[in-house]
Amino acid sequence: MKDNYYLDNAATTWPKPESVYEFMDRFFRDCGVSPGRAGHQMGVEAEMMVTQTRHLLAEFFGFNGDPHRVVFTQNATDSLNTAITGLIEPGDHMIITRLEHNSVLRPANHLERDHNVSVSRIGRDAYGYIDPEDIEDALRENTRVVVVNHASNVFGSVQDIERIGNIVRKSDAILIVDTCQTAGVLDIDMDRLGIDVLVFTGHKGLFGPMGIGGMIVGEGINIRALRVGGTGVDSISPFQPDVYPYHLEAGTLNLPGIAGLNAAQKWFAEMGRDLAGETMNKLSHKEACRTALAEIHRVEVTHINRLASAFRATGGVTVHGPIGNDQPRVATLSISLRGLPADQVGAMLDADFEVCVRPGLHCAPDAHEDEGTVPINGTVRFSPGYFTDGEDIDRAIEGISTLCREAAA
Ligand SMILES: Cc1ncc(COP(=O)(O)O)c(C=O)c1O
Repeated sequence: MKDNYYLDNAATTWPKPESVYEFMDRFFRDCGVSPGRAGHQMGVEAEMMVTQTRHLLAEFFGFNGDPHRVVFTQNATDSLNTAITGLIEPGDHMIITRLEHNSVLRPANHLERDHNVSVSRIGRDAYGYIDPEDIEDALRENTRVVVVNHASNVFGSVQDIERIGNIVRKSDAILIVDTCQTAGVLDIDMDRLGIDVLVFTGHKGLFGPMGIGGMIVGEGINIRALRVGGTGVDSISPFQPDVYPYHLEAGTLNLPGIAGLNAAQKWFAEMGRDLAGETMNKLSHKEACRTALAEIHRVEVTHINRLASAFRATGGVTVHGPIGNDQPRVATLSISLRGLPADQVGAMLDADFEVCVRPGLHCAPDAHEDEGTVPINGTVRFSPGYFTDGEDIDRAIEGISTLCREAAA
């Protein structure tokens, strides 16, 4: 028996690949110094690792522009605040969806309330899908920004970014995509999909630690710097340099976090090469990672399908979100149980079955308002990861069927 059955990977993936722990530890010990700035050998080595990570991520996300436009931040929340607030002016209009996380909703709400920005909020269907045409209909002449959550962190539904990108491309608006739930699970091609600003967080599917995230700012897009300060370059200038990444990277970077992302990128590529039986390193980083992501997604969706069919067969359980195999999804599944408050179910799963899930609103209140799950404090969310095994799934099924039986008695 395990101590814990961890099914909360949509919050944070755990565990990480062993090489991530090892490289973070080794790099921090051997070279944990300020990248670049001092000009000494150790600083140069740290800077080289940071630059290599920008290159790896640019390729991973299908960005063909200058890798210096891969900007490191604290997390997706930091990136989304910077991108949204740094692009919008008073009097502008923005479009978001009702599936967004509070890291989008709250910046939008504050801009609307305090800075004369108008906001359109696009609804979704019963399974958690946005109709791209609704975005087209909502576009106005003064629409500056469209923000879309690639996959819902409540339902796991994946939006058709290619169609949305084609629509937004025809307007003057900038498309920001929140890839928190898809990066490291689905192959994303920023340029092909028409994404102008791609936001990522490090600690979920990208298998980095907490406290590191970032964004890729498409060529020609300029985000106003919200935080200004030391960059280690152009120090004589009284103002923040315009040059990327410094424009949006004031202050010392999270070097151990970037080392984690670096090792994880190499882990994806190595896995892809192994799967492809490749010995000559002929596959590009992108091609190797694409192979790995297909396998990761396959493994995770197999787990979620097992959970979903067991839960559907359990009387008293409501499964929210996608139902059909043809509906694009990631491995995040929300359920509710005989009208019981979600936090109560989560606490019982933890206490009696050592199953770690996430009950609640998942920082996406509009999604729950539309689903009618606010009165029961949201849903109980199961999110297997690549390192989940059959025992974790068995335990979760056992826990839910036991709780259902007890609630019915
Ligand atoms: C869809 C989505 N967007 C944004 C975030 C915020 O990520 P972070 O807490 O790393 O800033 C999350 C995290 O739960 C998320 O799932």
